[in-house]
Amino acid sequence: MLEKLRGKDEIRIEMVCLGNVCRSPMAAAVLDNKGAKLGSPKLIVSSSGTSRYHIGEGAHKSSVRTWEAAGYKYHHEAKQFSPASFREQDLILCMDLSNRALVLTAAKSAEEKAKVFLLRQFDLALRGIDPTSRAAEELVVPDPWGSGIDAFEEVLALIESATDGLIAELVK
Ligand code: 4NP
Repeated sequence: MLEKLRGKDEIRIEMVCLGNVCRSPMAAAVLDNKGAKLGSPKLIVSSSGTSRYHIGEGAHKSSVRTWEAAGYKYHHEAKQFSPASFREQDLILCMDLSNRALVLTAAKSAEEKAKVFLLRQFDLALRGIDPTSRAAEELVVPDPWGSGIDAFEEVLALIESATDGLIAELVK
């Protein structure tokens, strides 16, 4: 999936969700920490939300509590997704189908569209699922907003598995 990125010294990756306070900051926290252990390629990780709801805020306290309990360290300030990311980023990894649809709407070329994936497309256990089919629903990181800590812990498990697969793909 990522043949074009192989051999690059630096890879820029933006995680995208709706509010940029629960899922995408957690995905960025996990990938940033895993990337720091890699050496090469250098991963430059960021995140954004398709909405303006939480611009300038920190991550949701349950998100922070969950990633810190798992040993990840990360500082976050919410921002809105900008089409400038198509120029600045190598990969734009969306948490759900609605985020992906909104991001793709802002893409102006096939080259820009080719940077957009669902994060869980990289989960090695989900390889057979066609992200353009109805089964793509199985590739979603569910929105934990309004749910208890268990939902955030479930999100962390999905993110850890998907980011492990992503790194395996990048270092192939
Ligand atoms: P996120 O979760 O997209 O994972 O950051 C949400 C955060 C805030 C809202 C919805 C989802 N909200 O409606 O404010």
